[in-house]
Amino acid sequence: MTGTSSRGADLAVIGAAGKTGTSVVGALTGLADVRPVVRTARRPGDVAVDLDTGAGLDRALQGCRGVYVIAPNVHPDEPGLVRRVLAAAASAGVEHVVYHSVAWPCTPAMPHHVDKARCEDELRTFGDLRWTILQPCAYAENFSAVLTGEADEVDVPYNPGSPFSFVSLNDIAQAAARVLVDGGDAHHGATYELGGPEALSVRQLCARAAAARSRPVSVRQISVDEWKARHGAAMPDDAVARLAAMFDFYDKHGFLASSAHLEHLLGRSPASVDDLCRAAATRSSGGP
Ligand SMILES: NC(=O)c1ccc[n+]([C@@H]2O[C@H](COP(=O)([O-])OP(=O)(O)OC[C@H]3O[C@@H](n4cnc5c(N)ncnc54)[C@H](OP(=O)(O)O)[C@@H]3O)[C@@H](O)[C@H]2O)c1
Repeated sequence: MTGTSSRGADLAVIGAAGKTGTSVVGALTGLADVRPVVRTARRPGDVAVDLDTGAGLDRALQGCRGVYVIAPNVHPDEPGLVRRVLAAAASAGVEHVVYHSVAWPCTPAMPHHVDKARCEDELRTFGDLRWTILQPCAYAENFSAVLTGEADEVDVPYNPGSPFSFVSLNDIAQAAARVLVDGGDAHHGATYELGGPEALSVRQLCARAAAARSRPVSVRQISVDEWKARHGAAMPDDAVARLAAMFDFYDKHGFLASSAHLEHLLGRSPASVDDLCRAAATRSSGGP
């Protein structure tokens, strides 16, 4: 079910048109009446807002029981954005706000993680709203072209041997749906770190993908300057600086998180990289 007007939807998803939001809306479909909150309405039922100014937020959240808050990636002022959402949620009478944070938010070397820690603090100290925080680790789908067999090469601007608890975005979306549908009675005050089931480097992820398709996948470390030259021109300077700091951290420390909360929320084992490669192979062969 997708909400068709700004009245009567059960759950609003802010950032619904993005990579994460699309998965969360998909996981909620059939479980609740969903109102996708987007920047530019593209589909019937979409409600447009400007998260930078808050324009449209009051109307977008009117009549909703719960709200899922996904901020744009490396936004220059995520705490300000979250404050606008919380004010609108409170005035609209929303019962439960669920915030899409990140694992390891309190990491001074990654300023956009620290901004998410500040957002978590905004939720915890806001007052009357009930809240839940989800802290996903890096999505395995950040390498989706490799997992699906569309790409045979990966370039990363950090050590390809650094360990990550890559997590399935579909699992994150299903956990988010579970928390939203259960609501604040079940999950108020909880902070769930959500990692995948094993620690793998990008090199190991690519080796798993290569084994699944019986074809090699090459992995190359590029410099942050090379990454900036390729991708930075299309991004604001602030976003480039935040991502460069993240790559530097990944290079030295990787990015790990526990899968225990995710397993509990899903009621099953979280998907491994091998599971995701198998599922992609089944889809490409026309299987279910
Ligand atoms: N990737 C990971 O591994 C990972 C892991 C943990 C946490 N996260 C977090 O997940 C969040 C979402 O990431 P994502 O990659 O899914 O994001 P995304 O695909 O870039 O989606 C962000 C959405 O925000 C919308 N948006 C941007 N500016 C807006 C504005 N001013 N007003 C209203 N909407 C606006 C965009 O709308 P348009 O489509 O119309 O431009 C887009 O649909 C980020 O906060 C990120 O830090 C990511």
